[in-house]
Amino acid sequence: MSSVSPGRGRANSLRPTTIVAIVESFLVSGGARLAGEVTVTGAKNSALKLMAASLLTTGRTAISGVPAILDVRIMEEVLRRLGCAVQYRPETGVVLIDSPQDPGTAADYDLVRRMRASICVLGPLVARCGEARVALPGGDAIGSRGLDMHIAGLQKLGATVDSEHGFLLARAGGLHGATIWLDFPSVGATENLLMAAVLAKGTTVIDNAAREPEIVDLCEMLLGMGAQIAGAGTSTLVIEGVDTLAPTMHAAVPDRIVAGTYAIGTVMTQGDVRLRNARMDHLDIALDKLVTAGAGVEEKPDGFRIWCDARPRAVDVVTLPYPGFPTDLQPAVIALASVSDGVAMITENVFEGRFMFIDELTRLGADARTDGHHAVVRGRPRLSGAPVRATDIRAGAALVLAGLVADGVTQVTEVHHIDRGYAGFVEDLRGLGAQIMREDVPDLLD
Ligand code: UD1
Repeated sequence: MSSVSPGRGRANSLRPTTIVAIVESFLVSGGARLAGEVTVTGAKNSALKLMAASLLTTGRTAISGVPAILDVRIMEEVLRRLGCAVQYRPETGVVLIDSPQDPGTAADYDLVRRMRASICVLGPLVARCGEARVALPGGDAIGSRGLDMHIAGLQKLGATVDSEHGFLLARAGGLHGATIWLDFPSVGATENLLMAAVLAKGTTVIDNAAREPEIVDLCEMLLGMGAQIAGAGTSTLVIEGVDTLAPTMHAAVPDRIVAGTYAIGTVMTQGDVRLRNARMDHLDIALDKLVTAGAGVEEKPDGFRIWCDARPRAVDVVTLPYPGFPTDLQPAVIALASVSDGVAMITENVFEGRFMFIDELTRLGADARTDGHHAVVRGRPRLSGAPVRATDIRAGAALVLAGLVADGVTQVTEVHHIDRGYAGFVEDLRGLGAQIMREDVPDLLD
């Protein structure tokens, strides 16, 4: 922390100003229409779990389509500290992971607090090593995110799970198959239990399992390693445990949330964008909502084209586990509603705290109110640029989209959140004609 003498800080300030930190922000000038082509990366929410799955075997796993984002770097470090040699080349999107014969078993708080998804090493470690010590996560500011289903499921598989000194400690003298009914189709719990069950003795059934494309992707990689899994993509996964798994090569599924973010931005700006490496079938409900709002969508060989020629109409949206409307696109769809013609009701059913970013959106002039897990948004023709703060990955991306349809300049701060989930966000948007730049700004305290 350094002090700056009077007059050298903010103009016209006679009081001393303290620079607390240099923070990165995005400056967005509103008014541009998104048009052109963009290639979507592999899915963050898949790549992180695929990387963790490499712990289930000894030797070299190769994963392609891994996005150059902060969370991948954190997962690299988690794996290194567990004894893996990890080489990631952002320019090719390939990560090579050499997993040792005898991996370590601890994931520390300094990493887990930065990325909650680190918890996904719990299942593989307890299955492979009979022990896992994973710090209890903090995570995004999007509501309480329990681990009860992860814990109850591991206990059913024969592990003892305790919490001590801020760590979750799971131990097992050999896991065994079991039938597990999840209270809710949790993505993380399904993944952890799946990765534990593939090496457990006997048959495991995970009922009310999550059906997200990223779960199917993980199942496909595990099948490539020699696991026996039936029912991928349905709510009942049946896993026949095997003694060992072998390293494999796998390509991460395209990121449906990144594709959905660009699709929503296209509709908001009345643009015309061709998305490459995008799976329309993974965005069925989201694209149907955009068509109801007035967009046109056309399937293409490796993706789709989306366009909108007039101001979008308001559409109601309800988030639900896949194949329902993804909660990760809820902030973007609220940004869309804020400039649509009419009134939209958005209902959030997955994360209770996910409306927090609406306070930031209202700084841009959005007319949005929340009541419990419902938000009512009255669309306005345009928003009005202002400084706003990204509160999590998806909220940050949504504020950038809002900046595209705001008069003047919108400054989005705390963009490290956006960097956690979107590789080359600024470059992609600039390529589509947006006026956006990244800049370092001093965080000042008067
Ligand atoms: C994953 C995604 C996240 C996405 C979410 C839902 C990653 C890295 N993140 O998060 O982007 O928004 O799926 O699609 O893949 N819950 C419990 N107890 C548990 C587990 C979950 O109460 O043991 C609750 C959570 O608090 C939350 C809901 O279930 O309210 C959904 O959580 P879950 O599906 O597990 O999401 P994540 O895996 O954390």
